[in-house]
Amino acid sequence: MKQKIIKVSAPATVSNVGPGFDIMGFAINTSVEEMILRLTDNPGIKIKKITGDKNKLPLDITKNTATVALTHMISKLNSKIGVELEIKKKMISGSGLGSSAASAVAAPFALNELLGKPFTKYELMEFALLGEEIASGCIHADNVAPCLFGGFILIRGYNPTDIIQLASPKKLVCTILHPQFEVKTAEARKLIKKQLPLKDVITQTGNAAGLITGILKSDYSLIKRSLNDLIAEPARATLIPGFYEIKNAALSNGSIGCSISGSGPAIFAFSTSFKDGIKIGKAMKKVSSKFVKENIVYVSRINTVGPKVIG
Ligand code: HSE
Repeated sequence: MKQKIIKVSAPATVSNVGPGFDIMGFAINTSVEEMILRLTDNPGIKIKKITGDKNKLPLDITKNTATVALTHMISKLNSKIGVELEIKKKMISGSGLGSSAASAVAAPFALNELLGKPFTKYELMEFALLGEEIASGCIHADNVAPCLFGGFILIRGYNPTDIIQLASPKKLVCTILHPQFEVKTAEARKLIKKQLPLKDVITQTGNAAGLITGILKSDYSLIKRSLNDLIAEPARATLIPGFYEIKNAALSNGSIGCSISGSGPAIFAFSTSFKDGIKIGKAMKKVSSKFVKENIVYVSRINTVGPKVIG
């Protein structure tokens, strides 16, 4: 009998990565979402339940990133299938760790697996991008693409979406501090300046190119010199209580680069060993705890797998 139910998980992602606003991202080895997708006899899409989200995420299929992505996929299939979802969020929404993107990726990935993979990952990405657009108010692939493909991703351009998967340095470790409060991406995007002076464009371009080169050459000193952002970090730092103090704590405890993950409030810090990564996490958490009651720390290498079938 044809399989009718599948359970998948999708990884958390860090987007922007300092100077790579909207054009860089990577996945970590922590799952942000688990999803059960069931084929039913009633045509249409339904969200049966969502847990772990403190009742914040919409069950309305026109507003949830998972079901918007699925709607586009099913319309492309030109089929009258019925699909029911159970979503388990493992992080609170508005984390800066790609929670909405993970839903937009997990649902088409799961359905594609059940249907015998009629679509390529590139095609699934287009559905996921349309889902993610509902949450952030615009198309950006720097969470969706690393969540779906794994690895460190460069988005060379958007028309059409041109993504490049980069092999990441073996020693690179990412520490993430997640202060437990919500930042809405759509709101955080409104803080970004629409224009930059030419000298800042030159600095930002140099840093973005330097970071990619550092990643490709496993040149940790170049990564360290390049991890500076003039676009998102200065505009959004005020959203995160104690941000610069937390960043200083990371850098003075061995981090080779630290910035806001996506639109925040999560903050990531690179290092070159797990030992340093753990020490950095403790230092970041100690500072953040002065401002925010609950803080969670993750320490991970870069995830190269993307979403997984787990049942
Ligand atoms: N690049 C997007 C932004 C990521 O910073 O707005 C949001 O998670």
